[in-house]
Amino acid sequence: MTDQYFEEEEFSTQFNGKTVLRILSQTKPHWKWVVGFLVAVMFVSMQDGYFTFLSKRIIDEGIVARDRQALISLVTTYGLLQLTQAALVFAFVYLTGVLGERVRYDLRKKLFNNLQDLSLSYYSRTPVGWIMSRVTSDTEKVSDLITWGVLDVTWAITNIASATFFMMVINWRLALIVLAILPVLLWVAVQFRKKILSEYRNVRKFNSKITGAYNENITGVRVVKALGREAENLSEFGQLTNQMYRSGYRAAWLSALFLPTVQIISAFAVGSIIYYGGLQANTVLGMTVGGIQAFVSYITFMMWPIQDVARVYAEMQNSVASAERMFSLIDAVPEVRDRAEAVDPGTVQGEIEFDHVDFYYEDEKPVLQDFSLKVRPGETIALVGPTGGGKSTIVNLLCRFYEPKRGVIRIGGRDYTSLTLDSIQSRIGVVLQTPHLFSGTVRENIRYGQLNASDEEIEAAATLAGAHDFISTLEKGYDTDVGEGGNLLSTGQKQLISLARAVLAKPEIFIMDEATSSVDTLTEALIQKGMEHLMRGRTSFVIAHRLSTIKRADRILVIEDGKIAEMGTHAELLRQGGHYYRLYTRQFRHQLGQEYDLYKLTGVPAV
Ligand SMILES: Nc1ncnc2c1ncn2[C@@H]1O[C@H](COP(=O)(O)OP(=O)(O)OP(=O)(O)O)[C@@H](O)[C@H]1O
Ligand SMILES: [Mg+2]
Repeated sequence: MTDQYFEEEEFSTQFNGKTVLRILSQTKPHWKWVVGFLVAVMFVSMQDGYFTFLSKRIIDEGIVARDRQALISLVTTYGLLQLTQAALVFAFVYLTGVLGERVRYDLRKKLFNNLQDLSLSYYSRTPVGWIMSRVTSDTEKVSDLITWGVLDVTWAITNIASATFFMMVINWRLALIVLAILPVLLWVAVQFRKKILSEYRNVRKFNSKITGAYNENITGVRVVKALGREAENLSEFGQLTNQMYRSGYRAAWLSALFLPTVQIISAFAVGSIIYYGGLQANTVLGMTVGGIQAFVSYITFMMWPIQDVARVYAEMQNSVASAERMFSLIDAVPEVRDRAEAVDPGTVQGEIEFDHVDFYYEDEKPVLQDFSLKVRPGETIALVGPTGGGKSTIVNLLCRFYEPKRGVIRIGGRDYTSLTLDSIQSRIGVVLQTPHLFSGTVRENIRYGQLNASDEEIEAAATLAGAHDFISTLEKGYDTDVGEGGNLLSTGQKQLISLARAVLAKPEIFIMDEATSSVDTLTEALIQKGMEHLMRGRTSFVIAHRLSTIKRADRILVIEDGKIAEMGTHAELLRQGGHYYRLYTRQFRHQLGQEYDLYKLTGVPAV
């Protein structure tokens, strides 16, 4: 993994207002729910403030004044308000929870949608783990910020406002003293929260480095021993654990210090209130017992909202960083996409032409150079050649997983970038070198080729592909579960199912990247039969490793270093005595023996 992908472990100190606005705008489609929970939470905190005020009145007007009537009516009001409070609390927790789910749902859908559109080049340079954490933890963080974060802040602000209001009503001079202390409290809380969060992020960062170090040392234990690197490794490891220990220690120390500090500051506020309030009680303004009690409650009551605001503020930077990464994925533009005027030609059965095509993947290291080829409709092309020569690249370009960097690819005489991606890709059937199945049953996997196919059509396709016999021997036949990625089946079996899938899709162009891994001779014969069915009457490209496939092709292309080194039929190329001849004598000869075995097994001659 490159450093770029560790960046999430770093503490981002940048604060981006635009991103915050964009995060908030995610709630737009659900604005009614937002209004609902904001109103509910405001009422809850205003009533909370009012309860303390009511307690003051119960003490002063009821208990101290010994007024039974007033006491009864005040206590009744208190009780009734508590009931509405309970309903409101239910409402805001429910509304916030649902809003969070909706936002998460929207975000994940947007991400998934774009992930499907992104080009293969994006996937080859982006680690899967990185994408997965955008989809899971970042959507979580962002939706939490929108819901619980906004809720905490609204709750805190209305709480402080209502407490201030009632303190003003009771005694405005003392209220001003409290208000003067608030910013100090807020500042202290924010500083603590930021520091604690940053230490914890350090702990996590060191932790992942330590896990990495363990991993390297365990998997590479032989090399470590062979080179006698134990002492140096231990000292490097020691440094890492030491750094982690110190960060963890600081985080614990700060967390421990945080609450007492806040408490001391608010105790100072409470002390001043009691001192001045008590003095006033003896002198001019007449502060009642209930009043002093209410002030003390309001101050303790304001401590939590302030801590909440500080926490949300500190976490917000974290969430904004999450959001930026998530939006970068939502905004990522696929390199290969439909042009504005792209059309569906209705068919791709025409001539295929590579016209002076240049191509490279990432680093401008040329893979194909000045590659030209014309393929007649219905022709079978076999691509052979050394590994890394560019065979898969040629079919990747034809499938338009990538587009040429220079030159043109034409289908039926038209530049294929003027056609829609879907019109091309939906008419090409590809069986990959390492076939991929989705978890589910055999039947579902074949049906992926043509979603509305009936069970009969699926079985017919499987029969044509040569897959029916082996499927019938499976425990549950077509309803057998293939496991994640099809890992309960062998490579040969997966390829047979992929072939059945391609047969069902009735593609106009057929592409096969033959598996190099050896499959048993019977399976090979079956795959051969399935392929033959698919190649019949269709333009086909086969990256071939089997002599029998190669010999059947109309034309064989020897691809070396991104160029056509030789081209012709089997017999022509053998006669030339060049690359193909050498390849044939070195690699394919031993296959002749196998083909004879096959012939004995199936009665079908290889050529
Ligand atoms: N996704 C990619 N990103 C960057 N470079 C790539 C990528 N895929 C292939 N290459 C490079 O392009 C060159 C051609 O690769 P390609 O896969 O086309 O070879 P191939 O002929 O199919 O080989 P093989 O017979 O082993 O399948 C190689 O040098 C390879 O390293
Ligand atoms: Mg390949």
